[in-house]
This record gives sequence, structure tokens and C-alpha cells, in this order.
Amino acid sequence: MAVETPLKGNIGDSIKRKEDDRFIRGRGNYLDDIVLPGMLYMAIHRSPFAHARIKSINTDAAQAVPGVVAVVTGALLAQHKLAWMPTLSGDTQAVLATDKVRFQGQEVACVIATDPYVARDAAMLVEVDYDVLPAVVTPQQALQPDAPLIRDEKEGQTSNHIYHWEAGDKAKTDEAFAKADRVVKLDTFYPRCHPSPLETCGIVADVNSATGHATLYMTSQAPHAHRTLFAIVAGLPEQNIRIISPDIGGGFGNKVPIYPGYVVATAASLLIGKPVKWVEDRSENLISTGFARDFHMSGEMALRNDGRMLGLRVKLLSDNGAFYADAQPTKFKAGLFHIVTGSYDVAAAHVEADGAYTNKAPGGVAYRCSFRVTEASYLIERLVESAALEMNLDPADIRLKNFIQPEQFPYMSATGFEYDSGNYPKAMQLALDKLGYKELRKEQAEKRKKGELMGIGVASFTEVVGAGPGKHYDIAGLRMFDSAELRVHPTGKAILKLGVKSQGQGHETTFAQIVTEELGIPAADIEVQEGDTDNTPYGLGTYASRSTPVGGAATAMVSRKLRDKAKKIAAHLLEASEADIEFDHGKFFVRGSPSKSKTIQDVAFAAYTNLPDGMEAGLEGVTYYDPPNMTFPFGTYLVVVDIDRGTGQVKVRRMVAVDDCGVRINPMIVEGQLHGGLTEGFGIAFMQLITFDEEGNCLGSNFTDYLLPTAWETPKFEMGETVTPSPHHPIGAKGVGESATVGSPAAFVNAVIDAVGHLGIKNIDMPVTSDKVWTALKEAGGAE
Ligand code: CDP
Repeated sequence: MAVETPLKGNIGDSIKRKEDDRFIRGRGNYLDDIVLPGMLYMAIHRSPFAHARIKSINTDAAQAVPGVVAVVTGALLAQHKLAWMPTLSGDTQAVLATDKVRFQGQEVACVIATDPYVARDAAMLVEVDYDVLPAVVTPQQALQPDAPLIRDEKEGQTSNHIYHWEAGDKAKTDEAFAKADRVVKLDTFYPRCHPSPLETCGIVADVNSATGHATLYMTSQAPHAHRTLFAIVAGLPEQNIRIISPDIGGGFGNKVPIYPGYVVATAASLLIGKPVKWVEDRSENLISTGFARDFHMSGEMALRNDGRMLGLRVKLLSDNGAFYADAQPTKFKAGLFHIVTGSYDVAAAHVEADGAYTNKAPGGVAYRCSFRVTEASYLIERLVESAALEMNLDPADIRLKNFIQPEQFPYMSATGFEYDSGNYPKAMQLALDKLGYKELRKEQAEKRKKGELMGIGVASFTEVVGAGPGKHYDIAGLRMFDSAELRVHPTGKAILKLGVKSQGQGHETTFAQIVTEELGIPAADIEVQEGDTDNTPYGLGTYASRSTPVGGAATAMVSRKLRDKAKKIAAHLLEASEADIEFDHGKFFVRGSPSKSKTIQDVAFAAYTNLPDGMEAGLEGVTYYDPPNMTFPFGTYLVVVDIDRGTGQVKVRRMVAVDDCGVRINPMIVEGQLHGGLTEGFGIAFMQLITFDEEGNCLGSNFTDYLLPTAWETPKFEMGETVTPSPHHPIGAKGVGESATVGSPAAFVNAVIDAVGHLGIKNIDMPVTSDKVWTALKEAGGAE
């Protein structure tokens, strides 16, 4: 009988997640688990109006409630120059409103009390006298000449327009359009949605008034960057600030920005001299923090009659809410949207983007997305579908005809990205074969004859993840590198400290596996630490699927640094020349005599006990890694739907997802990431919508209105993979965390349009709900 060797945790091993031991047993340590002696609790009084001038604020009733320690208003913060704070995109945002409220749910006052429920009750007693102003709820409305001015406090701001930004070559694109046989157009809207992680945002601020040290436990995806920004905003010396991100129950971009609640709790702790805890409830999370998307997109594609793409022209209008707070590289006002040429060899492209203020909570969070890549991927994949429909071409064929070919990599896109590697036809072919595409097309034709609606959706996405390089990409001026520090102890066990921060992605397992591969120390012997700024090297954090491309590369490089030193020690132990020492999976041996060997554990011990003369003791190091380029994961997603003509109900019959994220460190974890992302993509496509009425009231402030998919609705996913390593990443890995959220919404919507397109229905904006489908069918004369 074959005996199974336990997996050591090398790259490619699907070992179980190390962190799940504590998560599954309920032993995680999340923000709300933190209780400090003498801790006070904060609750926020929020604006009921979307746009209103504040005439007065009366805090007497709140102040009088037994247990209330303080009521903080904007006026009090203004005395400490903290009423406004800078945003990650260089705008300003009110911490607590002083002059006006600019969105429903905006923070107006905070109550600090000895008990969380007392704080909440008292917050309701804050009385604010408002002069209600007309609300602006769409960017189109915001840009009308007579629109009310939202940011009237900003010097020189005379309209609601925020930015104009362009990418690509306009003249070349115009030429391509002039030569085209035909132009296909699509206007579409990627609606406002919300990352809604299981755990909401929060902070426990503990400022020691004697020492001036601030320990801030925060649900932060980027603790180091947040520390620097806190130092700048609050004027605290940076060495006195320690940010600790404990276990995080999902982030998806929601925990990247700095929210007013963090700032007020810190200021309150500083002024009162006691720790202050603030944790959002679900509605607060949904109405005030971190919205995503809200992009109005207009695409035009120039094509030859045979379906070959010649050019792409895109216009965007972004609804940024009342404060432009997007976290994105400062040089790119519309994020990395210019990846919009996607997987296609398009010679010319031009993108124009404008942003507008509206009376909504600040948006622009990259919800499981690399800075607007999701919107770009959606637009191009929907536009290709429109071209196929209008030109009567097969949606798979038109893609195969236009894909960047494997031999074209590295490929320079028309908007300036150098794609590192890819094999798009291979991924698509695998997906088509897995689905049985040809047979399903025959079935569709048969069904159509009988009047039944069946659709097959195709989407072939290309992402761009892993920012930097630092010279091109920065957040609030901080260059986008990342770091890893590795210490190997005398017994051969190790601690790896990282600048990135997991929110549930399994870093404690996969980053240990990189060390296992490079040094041979079993993953079980490697403790991975993240999230404590006093104890981990500086990094820009985890979002935009950058941990593996950047932090993972840093981990491989620091392991190699240690391996080089270990080799010297091994040569000393084996009494051989360093040039003759070879390394293989944790063993150093003399070339030609494999029996003469030392393990990495022997070498680690010697690093502290038996060193060559003149060598420094210890086996540890740190690497700050600035990637030479981004990584470009890709894939093909196929969806089969059946639609009921009587109700408009869409049933997803099958979904095949073929992904290529280069070398997979832990295939099981990658699959888990993809399942999560596909589920979110399904939710966005069919269910999730945060909308507003004409007065700016948010209509999606709870989980009965804002629908998250459960296991009941979510389709079964059939997975496939191809592996095209990244040539510049030390272990060939690309990011994967967001691929499925980026790629899948278009596949779902394309499937619906594929089913109803022959009736003349060209577009249905997300979420594609039964009523929208039925209404479109009715208008087209296809409803029952
Ligand atoms: O930055 P974030 O952790 O959200 O995204 P990521 O770098 O794409 O990684 C998500 C998870 O998948 C991590 O645990 C990775 O190490 C793992 N992964 C992997 O095993 N192989 C890859 N090629 C990419 C990611």
C-alpha cells in the first residue's frame, strides 16, 4: 500500500490554511474582540439629509444622559484643526460637518460614553437645525450649469466637476475610426455597489496622554500607509503611532480609506485620556463607507467587416459622491481604467474620463478590483458582445480573431501598459471544451425555434495587478513597493513579517509556502506576521490583488538572500568551497557527493553557533521589493442561462471559469479566492444595487434591500486553469484575488443578452433583475 507523504508546503501544494485552526474554532481576534481597561465607546450622529446647511447643533440633551463622557462636534474639532482631513486622492473630506452636510449619513457629531448602548441612545438626542438644500443625485445632474454647488467651501471650486483625465492617442484613434467599415456603440452604467464585508469597519484608539503614544487597533488593509497619514493629519510624531490591524473579516477595498470615525475616536482618546472604541453597524457601513463603481460608460469600437477590431474610444463619467476619496495611484485620476483594451490587439485607443461631485457618500472604492479595472473589463467585454450581436458573429470567434497572440508578449497596449505574459486562445479553448460550447449552440438554436430563451455568455478578461513600480504608482505620494523580513531561529524555525495585511486571503499559509520553496523550511515551522506597524517592515498594504505580486516577490527575494548566506555557512560546515555547494529543497550538498550534506536546520543552528571567521551571526534579512512591472492575470468565463418569458427570471444553468494567474502557490486557496469572486460577480450582475431617491435618500441601507447572494442562489462553478508564469516575478506568480469579480459580471450579463439579443434587446444594465428582463422582453414583444 502506498504511503502518502505529508505535504511540506512547497509551491503547488494545496496544504490546509494554517489560520483556519483559530478561525474555525471561533478563536480569531477581531477588532470588536479587543477590550481595554477603562475603554469608552463612541457612536455617531449622522445627517438625515443629503444636502443641508447646518444652522445650529445642540448637544445639551445628549450631554445630560448618564454615562455620556463627551459630545464631539465639528466646531470642537475645528479648534484642533481636525474638522477636515485630506483624502487619498488629494481632496479634502469633512471629519464632522461644520458648515453643510453633503450626503445622507454624513458624520455630524460623536458621543463618547461608558457603554455602547448609552452612546447610541445619546447620539439620537443630538439636535441639529438644518436648512435643507436641493440634492444632486447623478453626475449628469451635477454637471448642469444651474446645479447646486456641493463643495462651496473649496476655494476656486465653481462647479461640481472634479477632474478631466485622458489616456491613449486621440489622433491615432480618430484615424482608426475613419478607416473602419463599421462602428459599434454601447452606453452602459456600472451601478453603485458595496463591498459589504462580514466585519464592518472600526477602531479602538488608545492614546496615552502621559507618553503621547497612540496605539490604534484598526480594521485597516494598509496599516503602514495609514500610520503615515495619521501622522500627517493629526500632527502626531510617527514614531509614537502604532497601528495594529488584528484579524480582519473581509475587506474587499472597504477598509482602505481613512474614515471620519477613526479620526474622531483618536482625537477623543487623546482629549479624554482613555481608550475609545468605535464599530460601525451594518447600515452605517452600507450608507457611509466605501462605495464602489458608479461609472457611466460610453464605448465605441471601430471594426472591419470581418470582425477585426481597429480602434476603441471610451468616455466615462464617474459619480464620486461628496468627497473625492478614491484610493488610487495619484497619476491616474480614473485609476487603471485604461486597461480597457482588455485581451485584444487594438492598435489605437483613447479614453476620456470626468468625475463629478454628487450628494452621495464618497465612492470610488476599488471593491475587489485593481483601481477601476473591473469597470474597464465590464465595458470591453460588453462592447465585444454588442459587436458580435450586431455583426452576427459568434462571440467566441470574434474574441479569438482579436486576441493578442502568445508570441506578441511582452505586448504594449494602445494605452501604455506592457502586458507581461499571456495565452488567451488556450484559456478560451479550454473553457469552450469544458462547457461543450458547440453542442450548446446547437441546443440554443433548437430552443429558439420553439420560442425558448437560452443564452451563452462569454467574457475573456485581462487584469492588471500588483502595483508598483513605485516610479509610476503611488498612493498619496507613497511609492507602491512592499516588503518582507525573515528571521530564521537557531532551531530552524522562522518568522516572516510582511508589509501586506490579509483580510482572510490565507497569507499565513501561502507566504510561508514561498519560504518553504526557497529555503526548504516546512510551512508549519514558519510563523507569518502582518498588520502591526511596530513589528513589520513598511509596506503599502493589501488591496488590488497586490500581495502576491509584490509582497510575495519580496518574500522570495528575502529567502534567496538568506539562502546565499546559508550557502556560505554550509560550505564552512562541509569544509568545501562555496562554489561547489548546491541546494535542493532544504539540503545543501557538495556537488557530486549528495551524501555529504547539511540541512537548512543544521545551517540555521550554525548561524548562531559555528560561523566562518569574520561572518556576522544570525540568519535574517529584509527586502523591500519594487516590482519592475505589474502582472496581468487573465481568463475566460462562460455562462449558460435559461430565461422564463413569463417572469423574466434568469436561471444560471452552468458557469465555467478558466483562470490563469501564473504559478499557483496554493491551488486550493486560489480556487477559494475564485469561488468568492465569482459569487460576488454573480451578486453584482443579478442582485446588488445601492440606489438613491431624488432627495438623495439611500435606498440600500440594509441586507433586505441590498441583496447578497447566498448558497441558495449562487450557481455551481466548474473551474479550469492554465499556467502562464509572469516572466518578471521571482516565482512566476500573478495576483488572483480579484480576477473573478473583475471578469464574471460581463459573462453573466452577456449570457442574458445572448438569450434575448435576437429580439432586439441590446443592453440591460446591472443588476439584471427579473423585472428589468421582463420589461425589456415586453417592450420587444417577447414576453409571455
Ligand atoms: O492581495 P491579495 O492577498 O488580496 O490577493 P492575491 O495576491 O491575489 O492573493 C490572494 C491569495 O491567493 C493569497 O493567499 C495568495 O498567496 C494566493 N495566491 C496563490 O496561491 N497563487 C497565486 N498565483 C496568486 C495568489
